[in-house]
This record gives sequence, C-alpha cells and structure tokens, in this order.
Amino acid sequence: MDILVNKSQGLKGEVVIPSDKSISHRSAMFSALTGGVCEVHNFSMGADCISTLNIIKELGCDIEFIAQKHIRIDSKNAFKKDRYKLDCGNSGTSMRLFSGILASREIESTLFGDESLNKRPMKRVILPLELMGAKFKHNDYKAPLIIQGTELFPIDYKTPIASAQVKSCILLAGLNTVGETKVTEPYISRDHTERMLKYLEADIQTNGNTTKIKKSKLVPKNLNVCGDISSAAFFMVAAAIVPNSDIIIKNVGLNPTRTGIIDVMQQMGADIQILDKRLECNEEVGDVRIRTSDLKSVTIEGAIIPRLIDELPVIAVLASQANGTTIVKDASDLRNKESDRIKCLVTELKKIGVNIEETPDGFVVEGKKNLIGGAEVECYHDHRLAMSLYVAGLICQKPICINEFQWVDISFPEFLPLMQSLF
Ligand code: S3P
Repeated sequence: MDILVNKSQGLKGEVVIPSDKSISHRSAMFSALTGGVCEVHNFSMGADCISTLNIIKELGCDIEFIAQKHIRIDSKNAFKKDRYKLDCGNSGTSMRLFSGILASREIESTLFGDESLNKRPMKRVILPLELMGAKFKHNDYKAPLIIQGTELFPIDYKTPIASAQVKSCILLAGLNTVGETKVTEPYISRDHTERMLKYLEADIQTNGNTTKIKKSKLVPKNLNVCGDISSAAFFMVAAAIVPNSDIIIKNVGLNPTRTGIIDVMQQMGADIQILDKRLECNEEVGDVRIRTSDLKSVTIEGAIIPRLIDELPVIAVLASQANGTTIVKDASDLRNKESDRIKCLVTELKKIGVNIEETPDGFVVEGKKNLIGGAEVECYHDHRLAMSLYVAGLICQKPICINEFQWVDISFPEFLPLMQSLF
C-alpha cells in the first residue's frame, strides 16, 4: 500500500496510544513459562507480537481471545513435544528471547524468520548461550537457528553492547539453570524483562548495570500492558514540529529505561508535560501533553542511546526543524535493526530536503530547513522508517508518497487512523 502524505495545518486532540511491543512479547512468553493460566490485558495486535503468540501456541499453550486485546493463556500443556519449528516472522525480539528460553529445555527447536530477520545478527545471543553449554546449528550465526536444548551452566557475562534482547536472552536461560547467572551491560538497556520476572516472583536482582537471576518457578498472574512510548514518539515529534498543534497522548509507558526521547525533547526546548503519572504492573505510566515548539539542536551519545534506540529515526525528523546542528553518535547498532537505519534513513530524508549526513555510528542533521517534499520515498520493509517518513511528510511543502506503508503493521496497525483523528 503506497500512501500520500499532505502538509498538516495542525494536530489537535487526544489519542490513546496502543500497547507496548516489548512488554506484550514478554507478557506472552513469560505466561507460557508459568505452567498455569494468565490473562493479559491490552496485548499488542502488531504482527511482531502475533508472531510471539503463534509461537507459544505452537509450543502447546491454549490461547483464548476474551475481548479485543484481552487474552487468556493456559500453559499447562506447554513444552510437551520433543521438536518444534517456530516462525518468528519479522521479530528480532521473538528470535532472541526464545533462543534463551529454548536452549535450556530438553527439546529440539528450529527458529526461523522472514527474509529480513534471517539476515540479522544472532551471534550476540549464540555466543553467551554457547558459553552456558547451549548447542546451536546455524549458518554464519544467522537464522534459521537449530537449538538442541540441554541443561545449562550459569555464567557471569559482560555484554559488549547495551542490548535488552541479549540481556533478556541470558536471563531467560538463567531462569531455568541451577545456580546464579549474572549479566552486566555497558549501559542500562530497557528492563521490562527484569520487572516482569520479578512481578511473577522470580529470584532476580538488579544492582546498577548488573542483574543476577537464579533458577525459579514463575507464579501465574494477570498482566496489563501499557501504551508504547516508541509509538507515542511519532505523535510527540509530529505535534512539536507541525505548527498550531496541541495534543494529549494517553496511557504512555514511562519506564525510565525508555524515556530518552522525552529527555532529549526537553533538552531541545520542546513544550512537553507529563500528566497523571502512575504505576501499573510494576511499570510507570502517564499522559503526555505536547504543543508546537521552538527547538534547538543537541548532541545525543553514550548512556542515553539504549534509552531511545528505536526513536532515533524520528529524532532525525525532529532535528531537521531545530536551530543548529544535531549530532547522533554511539548508535552503530542502528545498522542491525529491521533495516540499516542509518543508511536508509539518511538516503530517504535527503530525497525530501532534509540536510542530513551519515556517519559510521550515527548521523548529523543541519536544522531549520524548509522541507520541499514532492518525492517518492521507500521504507525498506521497516515500520519505524515508514512512520518517521510520515511525520516528515506532515511538514513538507509538497505531498510525499511513501511506498509499502503497510509495514507499519509490524508494531502499530492503528497508526494512520489515530494520526488522522488529530487532523
Ligand atoms: C527490544 C530491544 C531493542 C529494541 C527492539 C525491542 C526488546 O533491541 O530496538 O525494538 O523488546 O527487548 P536491542 O535490545 O537489540 O537494542
């Protein structure tokens, strides 16, 4: 589906942001590990989380849709077969977290994905799991991954990159391994795994950048998924850069390991307020009000990168409207996402008039430029590039055409109607 995006006259109103992708994945995976019955409220209907749901079904869970986005997962009969073939679709989170879950169980499983996922690096999870004694077959550390599950040994592992997927994979292997498994990251990445495992009464403790876990039995409980700050980010940036805008985004997850986008926007001078902050299922949640803002440039580097890794494409659009030069560094892992997000982003934003240059580990944007638009752009099968380009289209002089916009369905199928409700 190719779409045309026209210049916006202003965004006004309220939106309820849909379910967090990272938390939805974990809610289904961890429910499957309880051996009991859990209900999940506000589960994401994005294609990635549906891949995880299909995997736990394949693993023997009984799944019932009680209402829209409200599911009941019964895992009494899970993990009973000797062999599984599991389709992760486009979802790196499914492949990396299930690797940790499956490696420590006495079953053989094959994890495979779509064309894009089969090209993404899996060495980052295979190496630590092999140190624990896991047995993998793979082609140059790429999927399909064949895992011959076995009893593992605990390790004390220092991850070379701050990645929640790598950390979670090791912790999930540790959850089913006798002894204490320890993971230390260079910077703190999103901690939804730690919070949810603790909520389900696992023996897990975090101190600074280090988390320790011991073999534990999870207690089945009901879970509630808050709204996704990474989805909200497209609305926050749109409202900040489109003239005459004033919006409220309801039910946004505000876990401090994810709020780098808010910190950066505040630093850039954005008119952004947090309202009604509360705690739900061990996660901070609130509403965010944002209005058209006068912005200045920033440098984004170091410890904040994992706290806004998925927001960097839309931050490039934000930076195009800020006074001065915005520099993003230390983000080379962006090249390993659903697309090479540095190269693809820079190529497409240039087509519509953004003054942006690629660097090995990020990009540099010269701000305060009138965007001409009037071009056809590609999203490279990458949902976050598609939505970032859409936000850029809202401030272009001439309409832009985004090809294959249906890729937004990976994380945010409701994106278009929600955005259009603010016109
Ligand atoms: C995710 C972690 C991040 C993020 C991805 C989801 C997760 O990846 O980019 O969209 O749910 O754990 P890395 O941990 O590999 O940086």
